[in-house]
Amino acid sequence: MIVLGIETSCDETAAAVVSTSGDPARPWRVDSNIVASQVEIHREWGGVVPEIASRQHVRDICGVVDRALAEAGVSWSAVDAIAVTQGPGLVGSLLVGVSFAKAAAMALDRPVIAVHHLAGHIESIVLEHGAIPWPAAILVVSGGHTSLYLVEEPGRYQLVGRTRDDAAGEAYDKVARLLGLGYPGGPLIDRRAKLGRDDAIRLPRPKFTHRDRNAAPADLGHDAITGRPVAEFSFSGLKTAVIRLLEERGVRVTQGLGVTSATPLPDETINDICAGFQRVVVEALVDQTFQAARTLGARSIGIAGGVSANSRLRQDAVERGHREGLPVFVPRLALSTDNAAMIAAAGLRKLQRGESSPLDFNAAATLGID
Ligand code: KG4
Ligand code: ZN
Repeated sequence: MIVLGIETSCDETAAAVVSTSGDPARPWRVDSNIVASQVEIHREWGGVVPEIASRQHVRDICGVVDRALAEAGVSWSAVDAIAVTQGPGLVGSLLVGVSFAKAAAMALDRPVIAVHHLAGHIESIVLEHGAIPWPAAILVVSGGHTSLYLVEEPGRYQLVGRTRDDAAGEAYDKVARLLGLGYPGGPLIDRRAKLGRDDAIRLPRPKFTHRDRNAAPADLGHDAITGRPVAEFSFSGLKTAVIRLLEERGVRVTQGLGVTSATPLPDETINDICAGFQRVVVEALVDQTFQAARTLGARSIGIAGGVSANSRLRQDAVERGHREGLPVFVPRLALSTDNAAMIAAAGLRKLQRGESSPLDFNAAATLGID
C-alpha cells in the first residue's frame, strides 16, 4: 500500500509518501517527507496570519506534492489512497489541503481519508519506532495542544488529560515574544536555555485547587479512586509570572504582549529566564505524564508534537523512563513538528481498518478525535 499524505493545518505546506513494509514490528516506511515552511513569512508579524497562510498554501501545494512523489519515486497511478488533515487547525489553511486531496482522489478514483491532526502526531511515534508496548500514554504537545491520550490498542485514542488554558508551545511562543526573541519561540528559548542557569530565576509550578479540578471537562479520563481527571496542565500562569518578573526589572508590557524598556535586559538574564521557564514547563509535562501513565497502567510513554523537539524534554523524559523502567518513545525531529508523513501513517491506520471518508467531508477548525 502506498499512501500520499497532505498536511496544511497551520503554516506548513507538507506532503509525504508512506508505504507498508510488510514487517509487523515496523509496519510503515517513510518514502519521502517534504515540508515548505512559511515561518519566514509570518515572522514579520510575530505569529501566523491566517489569510496569508491560506494563500501561501495555494501557491505551494502543487509543487510540494510533485516533489514528494518524485523523491519517493512514485507515479500518481501507483498511489493507493490520499490521507489529508481534516482538522483541528486554521480553517482556510485546512481547506486548501482538503480540496486538493479530494480533487486528486476523484481524478485517480482512489479513496480519500480524513485524518485528525493529533492522530497524526500520535502515529508519528509508531512511524518512527514501530509497535511500542501497549497500552501507551501519549502526550501530544504542540503550539495548539497539550493533550494526553491513552492508547490501549493501536488506532484507539482516549483523551485522559489536557491543558486548561494555554498549550505548552503557545507559552513558549508568548514568552519568547515577551523576551524579544522572535518567532517561533520554542527553538529560540530552547537554544537560550542551554546557555543559562535553570536555578537562577525560580518560576512557580502550576497549581490546581479542588474546585478547579471539579470544573474539568466531562470527556477526560478520571482517576477511579479520587474521581479527578488523570492529568491536567496549565501554562498561562507561567506566562503571567514572566510578565511580573519583567515588570520588576523595569520592562513595560502592553496587552498585546509588546514590550518596551529603557534599558534592554542583559543577555545573561534572558538566558536565565529561558532556562528557568524551560525547567518548569518540562518538569510539569514530565511529572504529569509519568504520574498519569502509572495511574492508567501504561506500559510505555510517547511524546509527540512540535514541543517534543525540545532538547530538555526529550532528555529528561527518556532518562526518567530508563530510571523507572517505563520506556519513552519520541519521534525524530522531522516527525515531531508538523509534517505529512504522520498524516499518511494515521491514514494507513484507518485504511487498514477498512475506513475511508465520503467525498463531502469538510475541513473543521475544531474536531473530536473519533
Ligand atoms: O506540532 P507543531 O509543529 O504545530 C502545531 O500543531 O501547533 O508545533 C509547533 C510548536 C510551536 O509552538 C513551537 O514554538 C514549538 O512547537 N516548538 C518547540 C521547539 N520546537 C518547536 N517548543 C520547545 N522547544 C523546541 N525545541
Ligand atoms: Zn501539530
